[in-house]
Amino acid sequence: MTGKPLSLAAACSALLLVLTGCSSIGNGGERGAGEHARGGTLRLALNQSEDHPSFIALEHFGERVSERTGGRWNVDVYPNENLGDQQESLQLTSDGTIDLAIVSGTQLENLNRDFVVFNLPHVFDSVEHQMRVITDPGVVGELYSSLESENLTVLGGFTQGARSVYSSRGPVRTPADLAGQKIRVQESQVHSDMLDVMGGSATPMAYGEVYTALQSGVLDGAENNEVSYVTQKHDEVAAHFSRTEHVVGLDYLVANTDRLARMEPGDRTAFNEEWAATMREFTALWNQATEQAIAEARSNGVQFHEVDHAAFRKALAPLTERTLSSTSGSARTLYEKTRAAAR
Ligand code: GCU
Repeated sequence: MTGKPLSLAAACSALLLVLTGCSSIGNGGERGAGEHARGGTLRLALNQSEDHPSFIALEHFGERVSERTGGRWNVDVYPNENLGDQQESLQLTSDGTIDLAIVSGTQLENLNRDFVVFNLPHVFDSVEHQMRVITDPGVVGELYSSLESENLTVLGGFTQGARSVYSSRGPVRTPADLAGQKIRVQESQVHSDMLDVMGGSATPMAYGEVYTALQSGVLDGAENNEVSYVTQKHDEVAAHFSRTEHVVGLDYLVANTDRLARMEPGDRTAFNEEWAATMREFTALWNQATEQAIAEARSNGVQFHEVDHAAFRKALAPLTERTLSSTSGSARTLYEKTRAAAR
């Protein structure tokens, strides 16, 4: 996989892993290709903090995997970008330095363009619609196994909920209100285009850099869900949250394919079943976490604003067709199946 060079922090973390535990298939010893390992510790990179529901659900996942496999397999979750930002952790998973990573769909769009479909504004009507689509093998089977050449397997994901714009400058009720504002977006072409057509000036940046950029005025705002807004403390530095709800985002669990193939079939089944249960647990946690984040932001003095949804939808509508016309037929089929699954 050809990505950007690893940052110093990620390179140091990766080196540390190599020096301290080397192979994640530690307990069973390193095996030749095709052989099964008796057990090991799977290292999982996450960019969220410990109070984010992703971390909580993944910790439970690890506990259950360990229980179900009689302690043979464990999952160690490294939060806070400790193993690098998402771009870096995806690269470390691909080359087998680590085993698992949670990455936003915007990262996968850069490896296989078909993933762009799930990053489009308004492609999902709700979290419920999204979860139905992304757990349906008839819709996502091919997509999830399309990264084999990178030694990556996609296992499903967690919702990011509806994402909205927030700014230090004031309410954003219409596209005109975003004029001249530098708004952070994830590193994705379609999200840059999205923010531009919404009226702002898109500024791609890694998640962990956003707080400082907002604080120093390099950015006027960003776009995310309420949970990230509060757990990353962006509410301290951009106190106007405008409910544009322009996209229901998605995080994926991505695994190193060879590592998974080394699990004994029984352990692999336990792993898969517990991961399916974790996706359900996360969805159940999500609404509660969102309500809590809103209450916390309000108590910190944040103002929430309603927006002119029709005006933003109108601005965004041409982007879907423009994006699909620049992709393969399989992306369009995926889009059609996704929309057909909306109720
Ligand atoms: C959400 C999402 C992350 C993503 C982040 C971002 O928090 O869950 O995976 O990295 O948004 O905006 O970068």
